Amino acid sequence: MTPFRRALVGGVLVLAGPMAHAVEGQKIFTQGGANPAAMACLGCHGPDGKGIAAAGFPRLAGLPAGYLSKQLHDWRSGSRKQPVMEPLAKALTEDEIEAVSAYLASLPADPASKLWRQQIAVDPTTRMALYGDWSRQIPGCVQCHGPGGGGVGEHFPPLAGQPASYLVAQLNAWRDGSRSNDPNQLMVGVAKAMTDEEIKAVAEFFARAVSQEVKP
Ligand code: HEC
Ligand code: HEC
Repeated sequence: MTPFRRALVGGVLVLAGPMAHAVEGQKIFTQGGANPAAMACLGCHGPDGKGIAAAGFPRLAGLPAGYLSKQLHDWRSGSRKQPVMEPLAKALTEDEIEAVSAYLASLPADPASKLWRQQIAVDPTTRMALYGDWSRQIPGCVQCHGPGGGGVGEHFPPLAGQPASYLVAQLNAWRDGSRSNDPNQLMVGVAKAMTDEEIKAVAEFFARAVSQEVKP
């Protein structure tokens, strides 16, 4: 046993509850759940949980635990459908879901772009993101998803820095009904009111929000 591991195990014995939870969550993230069908998350969501943009795998690091655990339950109940995550979510136990969600929420997230926030709402995509289009009853995305699309509390996930292809897929999933897990149908109306071009443009806008920040 390495000194680090020994310290970790010692820590668990002393701190018990929350710490044990975090260690269990990290194990699920890196090695998968007890059921082999619950594959390790890092293979697709990246070693740091920040997603793999080229493959369209979303970032989970720093998302609220309540949101993550809700999504995993939604795949189990069928209100969110997706061929990869559905069997995986069903293979996790309740305890594993809580542990891995808590662990992911504790990982550092990319900060929302400062540049993005400074951007003046001159082009139609920025306007859509900030103010929406009330003639079609579309509120601005940031009114729920927070400044810069950085996310708010347990219920409004971040959009900033997610792969554009992932964001497009989610908006289309609400349009075709394969995702219907939004509380009070907050998203389905928004998604249905947008055109294909607007969805693509807004998705690229939020996907860029973080990469602008990390560039010097
Ligand atoms: C084989 C690849 C793969 C593995 C392994 C994987 N995921 Fe995923 N995950 C995906 C894909 C693809 C999506 C996007 C699903 C969609 O389009 O709705 C996703 C989406 C998610 C989401 C929804 C994120 C959001 O913003 O709503 C959560 C939560 C999630 N995964 C958790 C996990 C956890 C926890 C594990 C490990 C136990 C895991 N995933 C393992 C491919 C994977
Ligand atoms: C009235 C509030 C509200 C507004 C306005 C709103 N959203 Fe959402 N959005 C939500 C909620 C709530 C969820 C989480 C649903 C869930 O629990 O699965 C969500 C989830 C999403 C997701 C899925 C994220 C993920 O990680 O899977 C995308 C993509 C999204 N919204 C895009 C947008 C875009 C683009 C706009 C602006 C055109 C927008 N939203 C405006 C409330 C809103």
